[in-house]
Amino acid sequence: MALTVVPAVGPVLERVLDDTFLLWHDGLTRENYGRYWAAQRKTAWGAAHLDRVALQDGPHTVASAKRYDLSLRIDGRIRRVLGIGAVFTAPAYRGRGAAKELLTRMMETAEAEGHEFAALFSEIAPSFYEQIDFVPVPLTERRLEVDRKGGGPPAMLVRSGDDRDLPAIAEMSAARAEGARLSVARSEDFIRFVVARQRLLAGLGPPGLRDVEFLVAEEGHQAVAYVLSVAHRGRWTIEDAGDRDPAGARLGAMLQVMLSRHPGEALPEIRGWLPHGLVPPQTRVAAAAPTPEVLMIRPLRDRRLPLPPLSPEEVAFWQGDRF
Ligand SMILES: CC(C)(COP(=O)(O)OP(=O)(O)OC[C@H]1O[C@@H](n2cnc3c(N)ncnc32)[C@H](O)[C@@H]1OP(=O)(O)O)[C@@H](O)C(=O)NCCC(=O)NCCS
Repeated sequence: MALTVVPAVGPVLERVLDDTFLLWHDGLTRENYGRYWAAQRKTAWGAAHLDRVALQDGPHTVASAKRYDLSLRIDGRIRRVLGIGAVFTAPAYRGRGAAKELLTRMMETAEAEGHEFAALFSEIAPSFYEQIDFVPVPLTERRLEVDRKGGGPPAMLVRSGDDRDLPAIAEMSAARAEGARLSVARSEDFIRFVVARQRLLAGLGPPGLRDVEFLVAEEGHQAVAYVLSVAHRGRWTIEDAGDRDPAGARLGAMLQVMLSRHPGEALPEIRGWLPHGLVPPQTRVAAAAPTPEVLMIRPLRDRRLPLPPLSPEEVAFWQGDRF
């Protein structure tokens, strides 16, 4: 096979979307699955930091993957990181080294472009990626129970978040990252992308399948806490959240407000990849477990770069940051 790596655009992109749709459609129609990708690429962050590549054998698309140009904060330094997603080999080509070939070539290119690490989320047994030197990073998903004490919801100004809140949100993210060894260095554009991605997925899906809430608590005309939550099949996933108060008391109060507005009898199950230490006092961690998808990372060239082992307490990574 004379293999080449090409940007997945035009007919190659359509082939890749056809191939990957069955696995990763998230409830979208095939048409909207294509729109979802195109719209992410049209955001300011997506246009500059996200694309797809394909491994071609002549006219045949053998394998493909998403490529993210990420900034992670690792041990206090901002590092450019190749984020890899949606690794897929066409069934007819499986078991012949195509995925490893594509990943190796992507990493060579990334290294030449100045990336220092590569990272991905493995939905399959991590052993596959361990073969090419990725190591797991521990991440914890927590299930929260919120105290719904009587007397009504807390009196606080909670409103929809929007563009003017992004500087305050970026500041809250940076403050939280201070205490972690690994986190995403989140620019305003990146945060806007995280919110837009959830809204697009909800908006392009069947009505009512997903509901997105992006809320801020305001004090003195400034966002002092925020939450991005997605309701899906009776579960609320906290995709992202933050609070000026390191203990998260305002975030807890926001969850109480959200629950007080929740019409149904059955209470939602609330989950999130809450960073260590951010367990609002109004909540209780009812369960904690490793995330189903395993974050994995490796240095690209310089083997002396700081590497895990990291403990779960040292990682601040929201589900909304997932790539
Ligand atoms: C996983 C996948 C990309 C591998 O593609 P491939 O081109 O066959 O991979 P390679 O030939 O380079 O490597 C084959 C290895 O993949 C491993 N593999 C395939 N599916 C696997 C799975 N579900 N769990 C763990 N390992 C898996 C095989 O065990 C094999 O390992 P071996 O060489 O030690 O036997 C392909 O099976 C696929 O597209 N699956 C569906 C999409 C998917 O799950 N992608 C991963 C998202 S994280």
